[in-house]
Amino acid sequence: QAVGKGEFEHYMLKEIHEQPVAVANALEGRLGSDQVLIEAFGPQARQLLGRTRQIHLVACGTSYHAGMVARYWIEALAGVPCQVEIASEYRYRDVVAPPGTLLLTLSQSGETADTLAALRHARKRQEENYVGTLAICNVPGSSLVRESDLSLMTHAGPEIGVASTKAFTTQLTSLMLVALALRQLHGGDRDLTARLVHRLRYLPTLLGDTLQLDGEIAALAKGFADYRHTLFLGRGAQMPIALEGALKLKEISYIHAEAYPAGELKHGPLALIDGSMPVVALAPMDELIDKLKSNLQEVRARGGQLLVFADPESGLEQEEGMTVVKVPGCCRFLAPIVYTLPLQLLAYHVAVVRGTDVDQPRNLAKSVTVE
Ligand code: G6P
Repeated sequence: QAVGKGEFEHYMLKEIHEQPVAVANALEGRLGSDQVLIEAFGPQARQLLGRTRQIHLVACGTSYHAGMVARYWIEALAGVPCQVEIASEYRYRDVVAPPGTLLLTLSQSGETADTLAALRHARKRQEENYVGTLAICNVPGSSLVRESDLSLMTHAGPEIGVASTKAFTTQLTSLMLVALALRQLHGGDRDLTARLVHRLRYLPTLLGDTLQLDGEIAALAKGFADYRHTLFLGRGAQMPIALEGALKLKEISYIHAEAYPAGELKHGPLALIDGSMPVVALAPMDELIDKLKSNLQEVRARGGQLLVFADPESGLEQEEGMTVVKVPGCCRFLAPIVYTLPLQLLAYHVAVVRGTDVDQPRNLAKSVTVE
């Protein structure tokens, strides 16, 4: 590989630690003093986003999880309806796109066969109803970028590890910029926009602070490596982060992992809980924290082993059956980006303990260019 691993044992670990710089690069030149610089997205951006009435967000794998987070942001911050779909489903569906639909594709590589096919499928069907296509992508000149009306590059730099890390957090950062741009164009209150712009500037530092958890998580991973199944729980915009944490763990450690919205626990997964079932939960400070705590009690009452990544103000403390890792405090909108990092580190260290090929997991490819 032309890109070296430097001081790191694996590309994945290097890429995890590159995230503060990668996210700073994704923000570079795109923030004004109290708003997002929409012109920096390209000459037609203002017109295209201004005419957008709803969004169809289409992607695969980790990129799909970024899209799921973006739905919460776009609806909450801009009031624009948003649906998110796996590309291999979207392309074979008789999609109904109401007038004013923006097709937003997300892809690290820009060459994923299903995502490209979904873009082409949408353009062929009901072309008149799409206001246009926007690609959020890491590879300039890729097919997806060439075939879209507008593209926003994530500037993550080359990602070698098959399990995506910095490509994901830079996609999220770019999606937050899109959500704020839509808010500006759709008349959202300016104070919150200005506060979020300010917090975005501070995000690289916050991610750097969060990476200080590396040693603590490496120590916890030793106790984790013998489990055969894991359940990840989150609520709201943390639910897709739970999905992404489960995906990272299964991709590189081969431990079976699934994720659920914590409120759905009673509707099935609670039946799986016993002393041999670790449950990883995400507990930032938001309006759902008390509801999440009662979900955690349901797990504890059945002997489940909890590992909770929690805000220092959450009131969650280490107890019998519950390990708590304190994640640096952050605003609820940026918490999905921050809470991704400890889950990446957990998957990485568990895989290292299990001795798997972290950068090249079995049966997987970095870019899936065939159907
Ligand atoms: C493969 C990779 C994943 C990636 C997915 C989508 O499955 O192993 O890490 O998330 O493709 O790739 P894309 O390049 O479209 O983001």
